[in-house]
Amino acid sequence: MKKAAIIYWTKTGNTKKVADAIKEGFEAVGFDVSYLRVEEAKGLDYFDYDLVCIGFPSYEWSTPRPMTIFLRTNLAKQRKEGLVKASAPKVPGKNALIFCTYSGPHTGINEAIPAGLYAGQFFEHIGFTVLDEWYVLSEFHGHDKASTIGKMGDIRGKPTKEDLMKIKEDTLNLAKSL
Ligand SMILES: Cc1cc2nc3c(=O)[nH]c(=O)nc-3n(C[C@H](O)[C@H](O)[C@H](O)COP(=O)(O)O)c2cc1C
Repeated sequence: MKKAAIIYWTKTGNTKKVADAIKEGFEAVGFDVSYLRVEEAKGLDYFDYDLVCIGFPSYEWSTPRPMTIFLRTNLAKQRKEGLVKASAPKVPGKNALIFCTYSGPHTGINEAIPAGLYAGQFFEHIGFTVLDEWYVLSEFHGHDKASTIGKMGDIRGKPTKEDLMKIKEDTLNLAKSL
């Protein structure tokens, strides 16, 4: 049975909705899923999984502090263990998926891409293959202007049920490809 870990951080719930949809997708194809808030994932060994999924909102086009600390703490430990090697040779069968929710009020998806690529580097450095980065447009809760007249227009209610169904479907397809 293939194993996936879903590790996420959320403040206003958008990223959790995406994490839930991803979990449903994996479970539908019979994956063994560990589903953890980042606070619960201390000490988790990425190498115990076929696929590690990391989710967070974009905060100032980067990862929010709790996620940054998690990623950096793990990398420091992996470095000590000699897992960060010159030229980052690929470790067969070890994969990562990055998912990032964002509202893009100023420059759209460009506010999320740097965060997704940054998070992916923590995996590429230890030889994981980053299968994809998923950027999910989401309401900016508590900020009406950013949710209605920002670069992405009216994003209230996002991610919608349909958006989440699509994420579940994409997860199913990704899981089947492993
Ligand atoms: C402190 C803070 C900073 C944010 N910075 C950005 C940003 O730079 N770019 C962006 O697109 N969205 C930004 N957002 C919006 C969130 O990324 C977005 O609403 C996200 O979906 C929230 O995720 P959550 O509900 O899982 O906490 C910010 C939100 C907060 C609270």
